[in-house]
Amino acid sequence: MDFDKRVNRDYTEATKWEKYRNVIQDKEQIPMWIADMDLACSEAIQDALLKRAKHPIYGYSDRDVSYLELFAKRFNDMHNYQVTADNIVLSTGVIYAITCALRLFSKQGDHVVILSPSYAPFTKLIEHCKRKVVRSEMVKGDERYEIDFDDLDAKLADAKVLLLCNPHNPTGRVFDHKEVTQMAKLCEKHNIVIISDEIHADITYDHHDFVPIMNVSEYTKAHTIACVSPTKTFNMAGLKISGVIIKNRSWYKTFQKEAAMIGISSINVFAMQAIKAAYLQSDEWEKENRAYLKANRNRIKEYFASCIPDIQSYQPEGTYFYWIDLSNYQESDKLLEKFLDHGLILSGGLEFSPLSKNFVRLNFACSKEQLECCLEVMKEVLTGEKLK
Ligand SMILES: Cc1ncc(COP(=O)(O)O)c(C=O)c1O
Repeated sequence: MDFDKRVNRDYTEATKWEKYRNVIQDKEQIPMWIADMDLACSEAIQDALLKRAKHPIYGYSDRDVSYLELFAKRFNDMHNYQVTADNIVLSTGVIYAITCALRLFSKQGDHVVILSPSYAPFTKLIEHCKRKVVRSEMVKGDERYEIDFDDLDAKLADAKVLLLCNPHNPTGRVFDHKEVTQMAKLCEKHNIVIISDEIHADITYDHHDFVPIMNVSEYTKAHTIACVSPTKTFNMAGLKISGVIIKNRSWYKTFQKEAAMIGISSINVFAMQAIKAAYLQSDEWEKENRAYLKANRNRIKEYFASCIPDIQSYQPEGTYFYWIDLSNYQESDKLLEKFLDHGLILSGGLEFSPLSKNFVRLNFACSKEQLECCLEVMKEVLTGEKLK
């Protein structure tokens, strides 16, 4: 797949390219925000969708056990999950699955702990369900963001649920075995329900392998609801597919029944074709895509070091996000607007935590050419800014 080739997404109602069109107006747009890739899907996925679309009837369709087996095989092979089809429930999206799990396994007013900064929809869904958001702020270490385990211990003491995001959006951390085990111990100590958002599990770099929290203890095996998906991995978020892994039999049955009743387990006819093509026929694409993302990630590190050294950031271990600290600059909270004046759209830090106003998140899943445009704008804007 030639990922260098820019794909024009005009007239496809792509949120990434439409949301700011009127704000940017006549300037060239460089959208580096919402979490999808400006990189074409595998040919196998494209062909499977075209083939299905050519059939003129899109009626009710049965999702047999083979779809669940696909998830089980994928997560056993990639992440050593040791599950079978009857540990999996299909869902139309990770956020719907998390909301469903939260409603089923906690009650109104319960505390839900998140590692902060945090993917913004987490706080929205927790508040929507009338539970209380409790942030455990991660801290800057020498080489990476670290979990503050004393703080996490204290916050879990009064909580019902840990809503974990691993690999972590926005910091790009992939929690290692020691960290995951330590989180698991604290969850056991405080009898916590673990809802684990693992949507970015397949996108990791170097030796940073993803460790499923469900795998690290008997307690987590029985108390984890893991939400997984092919949509980030294969760039098909618009098709709305995810899987929910639950080993606890009674929790599985409760979740499966509710998911069916509220309709989220009903993935659509196109999603059904796409998932088969993704998990069975897109290995080569996946390998090439991961290498491309890694090269982009490395390029950002190199560019910041040589051209914008006052930016502070750690190289992400997973995901396609760079979490960038601009607090060396005066009025750093105004820089988001200045980037926008040049057509560059990044995610502002305040989306992720009230403490992150000096941060931006950069989605580097795009062509090299688009990434270079982004880096050049960042350099141009920041060169004119005063340092503290
Ligand atoms: C951590 C995380 N969870 C969930 C989602 C959204 O998942 P879905 O579209 O399946 O609801 C995203 C998308 O950016 C994400 O980054």
